[in-house]
Amino acid sequence: MDSGKFPGSFAWGASTAAYQIEGGWDADGKGPNVWDTFTHQGGDRVLKNQTGDVACGSYTLWEEDLKCIKQLGLTHYRFSFSWSRLLPDGTTGFINQKGVDYYNKLIDSLLEMGVTPLVTLYHFDLPQAVEDQGGWLSEKTVDIFKQYAQFCYTTFGDRVKHWITINEPYYAARLSYESGIFAPGKKLKGIGGYRAAHNMIKAHAKAWHVYNTFFKDKQQGRVSIALDSDWAEPLDPNSLADKEATERYMFFRLHWFANPIFIDGDYPAIMKSIVSQKSKEEGLTSSRLPEFTEEEKAMIKGTADFFCLNYYTTRKVKPLDTTACEPHSNSDTGAEGITEPNWPISGVEWLAVVPWGLRRLLAHIKHSFGNPEIFITENGFAQADPPALQDVHRWGYYQETLMEVLKAIKLDGVNVKGYFAWSLLDNFEWNSGYSVRFGLFHVDFAQANLPRTPYYSANEYAKVVKGNELIYK
Ligand code: BGC
Repeated sequence: MDSGKFPGSFAWGASTAAYQIEGGWDADGKGPNVWDTFTHQGGDRVLKNQTGDVACGSYTLWEEDLKCIKQLGLTHYRFSFSWSRLLPDGTTGFINQKGVDYYNKLIDSLLEMGVTPLVTLYHFDLPQAVEDQGGWLSEKTVDIFKQYAQFCYTTFGDRVKHWITINEPYYAARLSYESGIFAPGKKLKGIGGYRAAHNMIKAHAKAWHVYNTFFKDKQQGRVSIALDSDWAEPLDPNSLADKEATERYMFFRLHWFANPIFIDGDYPAIMKSIVSQKSKEEGLTSSRLPEFTEEEKAMIKGTADFFCLNYYTTRKVKPLDTTACEPHSNSDTGAEGITEPNWPISGVEWLAVVPWGLRRLLAHIKHSFGNPEIFITENGFAQADPPALQDVHRWGYYQETLMEVLKAIKLDGVNVKGYFAWSLLDNFEWNSGYSVRFGLFHVDFAQANLPRTPYYSANEYAKVVKGNELIYK
């Protein structure tokens, strides 16, 4: 490569999510969401029974976050709306003006600083009232979400031009409604994940259509969905069984959502046939994987204006022996992802450092989905507690990853338009509470004023952002 320069107008960002940073869980008329309920139930659902009640306090300390953004020199900031802060029972029946005011202040201040907001409408924190009506397992939520999206476009769309409907439907569906380790903790093995994902895809598509039909001409913005994926490679590249398992791994993850939205409105054929066959063997009269009608397929196809990818790691894949397994989306996939022993591990055991996996995944997306514009909307490295302010390992991860992004752009012709580090701040890392730190800024959770301090990575990232260039020694 001739230089470490990124293309002009490359978007440099960092990401956060409402429940993970805001706190103020019942402030100023906010309604409860499923994570409020889940964490308040205790019972070790979250490490040390920690909650997001206070988190980074961003509901009141949002100006401190702006200082961090400024210090990094970001061009973009991705954050999510807390749905139940805006609409306490999830519906437009009652609008919480204080919640609207909060996001107005945040958006207006970002724009004054010259920072472009990228807003996620739903990042795992479903209003409890919507969950009480069936949540994502219910078809009703599709239209409730559509109305929420419409409300957000109406209220903020004069200034917000980049919308992400749903963050990581793969995790949101499976962890919340299949394994039950995420709120609301439903354990419907082999069924819940598929059903929730089905409704999320429809909700996303409807939210895209509302924008496209009623707002796009006037507001000139764009709507997408954030999909997460590992990159996967066969454990033994010469083994047909490993190669097939790797394909299944990708089809049951990235393609589960990307095929309907970016290709043809429907699930991958292999996914449909495996789940349908297994369902028959289990004596069921219909597949555990719901079907889209022809009308729904036409409605879903082509409902993303750009591709948002959350990438963290890579797996080597081999077949999973499913003979003694109960019905589950994992046994349907029939593939097991393994970490190579020589891959360095971050502060969390699932996050092996494999930057080259991102380059391969980006090329795969380019070829599978018609060379879309891609924003990497999350990528990051965790430190375990207590974290080092001199986080040299993390900066190594970022540097190597950004190098792979550059190669993808310059050598593979992938249309990558932006990169967002996860995360701006140390925050509430779901089941791991505050023990896992992904921030570019350290947050001292032991002090009442929750001070933010830049890690070494923040200072280095700021240099890359400023120069639009990776200087790699
Ligand atoms: C989620 C974030 C989470 C991050 C690190 C992503 O799956 O969108 O909310 O904190 O991964 O685990």
